[in-house]
Amino acid sequence: MTQEQAGAAPEVQVIYSADSIARRLEELAAEIAARKLERLLVVAVLKGSFVFAADLIRALYRSGLEPEVDFLTLSSYRKSRTSSGKVEILRDLDLGVEGRNVLLVDDVLDSGRTLVFAKDLISARGADSILTCVLIDKKVPRAVNVAADFSAFEGNDEFVVGYGMDVAHRYRELPFVGRMTKE
Ligand code: IMP
Ligand code: MG
Repeated sequence: MTQEQAGAAPEVQVIYSADSIARRLEELAAEIAARKLERLLVVAVLKGSFVFAADLIRALYRSGLEPEVDFLTLSSYRKSRTSSGKVEILRDLDLGVEGRNVLLVDDVLDSGRTLVFAKDLISARGADSILTCVLIDKKVPRAVNVAADFSAFEGNDEFVVGYGMDVAHRYRELPFVGRMTKE
């Protein structure tokens, strides 16, 4: 067991360490900054992206950006590990998106339903442009046609937890991304 996982969740095995995430986010922020987006609004899709978004906006700041930030709480997963297929708004944005360049931030791109739902919503409200940024782009068949414009890491068809991501409300506090070693 490494030092990092010696805490409260020995049943979670590290995939991406806190250090490797931090290094990757600096690169990602530089890629985003290179797009020279004016009046950038970061929309974090909650709950799963809250840790990623918190680190990403500070990396964006270090790359010279001054984004505004808002939150959209969506639900598709509920308590299970598989998508229910239906996406619902649990809490809407506070800010208007009309005329804004929006960077949509989510934790995982899996079936694509969540990202398409959020993109459609923001586009229907008149955003100028929408780019998508995910922590983990799972290389799996999508239920709907969508791709991430930016992603920190690629993943496969396995459930991951930590760094904001949960299974039944647990493990969000882990500073790393990991997989469950026990069911
Ligand atoms: P999609 O709508 O199927 O693309 O699923 C995306 C949403 O499901 C993400 O916003 C995550 O919250 C959640 N999700 C998908 N895969 C995982 C995972 O491996 N761990 C935690 N959450 C996941
Ligand atoms: Mg999510």
